This record gives sequence, C-alpha cells and structure tokens, in this order.
Amino acid sequence: MTRALLIDTDPGIDDAVAIALALASPEVDVIGITTVGGNSGLAATTNNALRLLEFMGRTDVPVASGYDEPYVRAKMETGYEPVHGHDGLAGVDLPQPITEVVSTDAPAFLADKIRNSPDPVTLVAIGPLTNIAHLVDQHPDVIPMIDRFVIMGGAARTGNVTPVAEFNIWHDPEAAKRVFASGINTVMVGLDVTHSVKTFEHLWGWLKDGSKFGKVFDHILTSYTDFYETFYGERMTHQHDALAMAEAIWPNLMELEPAFIDVECQGELTTGMTVTDTRLRNDVKPNGYVAWTIDGDDFHQKLMSALEKMAQKVS
Ligand code: BDR
Ligand code: CA
Repeated sequence: MTRALLIDTDPGIDDAVAIALALASPEVDVIGITTVGGNSGLAATTNNALRLLEFMGRTDVPVASGYDEPYVRAKMETGYEPVHGHDGLAGVDLPQPITEVVSTDAPAFLADKIRNSPDPVTLVAIGPLTNIAHLVDQHPDVIPMIDRFVIMGGAARTGNVTPVAEFNIWHDPEAAKRVFASGINTVMVGLDVTHSVKTFEHLWGWLKDGSKFGKVFDHILTSYTDFYETFYGERMTHQHDALAMAEAIWPNLMELEPAFIDVECQGELTTGMTVTDTRLRNDVKPNGYVAWTIDGDDFHQKLMSALEKMAQKVS
C-alpha cells in the first residue's frame, strides 16, 4: 500500500535532502508540500521548494506557502544564515522557478489534502511548527484523520541552538506547544536520534560524478559540511530532516518510546526545550513517541540508494 505524504518544510539544505529522499521512495506518494519561515524567510523557503521540485522533474507536486511569522512571537531578523546560506541553499546555482504556489494558505491546503486523500496520510514536519499550529486552530476536524505525524524537532536530552533547545522548536516554541497539546499523536524525531548519526563526507563522494544532480547536491552538502566542521571539528553532517523523513517513509525504523511531551515557552534558560516525560507517573498520558535510536548504516544505505535513483532521473 502506498501512503500519501504531506511535507511541511523550510528548505534548507537538509530539507532538500529529505525532499529528494521522499520523492525517490516508492513507499510514499508525495501529495503536497507546504513551506514555512525558519532556516530562511518564507519567500526563500518557498522559492527553494519550487525550484527543487522543478529540478527533480516533479512539478506535479503542488506547493502551498504558509506562515513567515511565528505563531505568537515576533519574526526574527534572519533565519540561520551560517548553516544554510543567505538563500537557504548555500547560494546554489539553480534556476529561478517557473511554477508558482497553488495557495498561500498552507493550513487550508493541508486540510483539503487530508480530507480528500483516499489513502492514509502521513504528515511530516521538518521545519518550525507554525503552519501545523494554525492547522490545529483553523481545521481541527482533520487532526483525527492524520494517520501518522512525524516531526524533526526537539530534544529530550541536549539541544543545538541552546543547551536544551533544538532549532525548529526554539524558533517557534508556542506553535510547538500548541501542536503537542492538540491530540495529534506525534513522533518526535529530535536530536537524541539525529545527533547519533554522523554522515561523513566520504559517503557523498559519488556526488562528484559531474552529473547535474551531483553538482547541485555536492554544492549544498559541501557548504553544510564546512559549517559542521567549524562547529564539531569533523567533516560530517547530521541529516536531521532526512532522518525524520526516513521514519515517515519506513514507520518504526527507529526505536520509539511513548512519552508525554510539552514545550517550555518562558524559561530564562530553557525556552524551546521539549520537556519529555517517559516515566508517565501521576496519570500523565502519552501524547506521542520520542525517537531514541536508529541503525545508522541502514539509514545511509536507504538514503544513498534513493538519492542515486533520483540522480539517474535528473539528467
Ligand atoms: C533542524 O533545524 C534546521 O536547521 C534543519 O533544517 C533541521 O530541520 C535541526 O535542528
Ligand atoms: Ca528543516
């Protein structure tokens, strides 16, 4: 059975890898992409989603743009330029898109797709949860219709932007809090698992084959690796979004544990922390799962073979 997949994203270099993985995986049918401000502003993330789809020959996948501003707080001045570059894709040489968004109302677009899908829908969110919080507010009837909801976000243990907060949650903590409280059963693929997998540069060696796909992905991944080297001292990256995408494509690829997850929005030191309770004492009911581990070699094998297939198509 093919599962319908909706992707909410802020491309973003690792988002681009995740999108390519989804498009190349026959287990899922990507029925739409929505964009959100995060790694860059909404104009850039939307532009990137459109040009990536054109590059990969998938203009049949509709794109709807969503929110630039976080759910409650004021918009930040910039995204996270040192990681993803001024345009969200490290200044890669990709033509401007010819296609346009089908809607500028991402929550309405998602709701419509969820309501009308004949197949069970997996929603995967690999950016800040702003659009999803608005979906919960504006179209609550579709929430129980979502078969599976997987996010890249959060950290039960150690953060990246702060000692305890992961970027997607930290960027819009109130949105994340709203989503965790909504009744959607959330699979939280956070830094606990994404930091456990190092994608060393040599694994991308095949991209240096001079192919069209190779040139684009080698450019963005080399830039991403340069950033990681300055931070972690190794020529590797954490493929956060592709890992969450893998769990969306192949359910239970990861070791998951039921948890009650809430988000700290006010702490002086802890804003954006995903407070993750796996002990479930005092009658707390789980509202999702936290992902703890994955077989990194298996993930890399799945990722690279999917991307190699995509590379053959893009010529
Ligand atoms: C997350 O933040 C972004 O920079 C990445 O695209 C990923 O979704 C990792 O913390
Ligand atoms: Ca992302």
